[in-house]
Amino acid sequence: MIQIAPSLLSADFSRLQEEVAEIEQGGAQWLHLDVMDGHFVPNITFGPGLIKALRPHSRLFFDVHLMIENPDQYIADFAASGADMITVHAEALRHLHRSIQNIKAQGVKAGVALNPATSLSVLDYILPEVDMVLLMSVNPGFGGQKFIDITEKIAALKALCLKINPAVRIEIDGGIDPVTAPRVVQAGADVLVAGSAVFGKPDRAAAIAAIMNSL
Ligand code: DX5
Ligand code: ZN
Repeated sequence: MIQIAPSLLSADFSRLQEEVAEIEQGGAQWLHLDVMDGHFVPNITFGPGLIKALRPHSRLFFDVHLMIENPDQYIADFAASGADMITVHAEALRHLHRSIQNIKAQGVKAGVALNPATSLSVLDYILPEVDMVLLMSVNPGFGGQKFIDITEKIAALKALCLKINPAVRIEIDGGIDPVTAPRVVQAGADVLVAGSAVFGKPDRAAAIAAIMNSL
């Protein structure tokens, strides 16, 4: 089952509760929450307080993408805020294995994210431990960027997962729309993050349906 994970980054920040309700009614099951600190990436977004405020208003699976330095320092706070999955960037961590264990110890699912130029080889000794791998198909920091073609990387990751840990989900983040979605799914993606292609459209249900129907 392919999941669409609309990214709150492209929503109207003055009416977040309604925005989340719209995608939930529009058929989404996941909500992608992009946390940025102005250090790991050039942009700043929001923290656990906002996630905690939204949590009672939604049953969506909260997929928290941490684009921050020192994520270990905040994992307990994000877990307590109501995250269902916490994904950390391999590039931000010296002790990736320890960080993944920290996430799992909080009782939430654990993901590892890789920037477009980061090799899959960093996954060799962590793949058995994770629930998801997020491959960036833009350089992280902003919504609405042009898709970088990582289809070969996705296919290579899919092959690696089949060999080492078939339960791992593959999430693709950046530039996903009805044109790029079928390409990444064909390569092996299971979860599609879509910011501008969902929240950038006036009819969110139609935007989600357009991506699903493109597959
Ligand atoms: C970028 C974020 C993405 C972003 C995607 O750093 O990780 O989740 O919201 O936005 P679109 O779908 O517009 O490329
Ligand atoms: Zn993201």
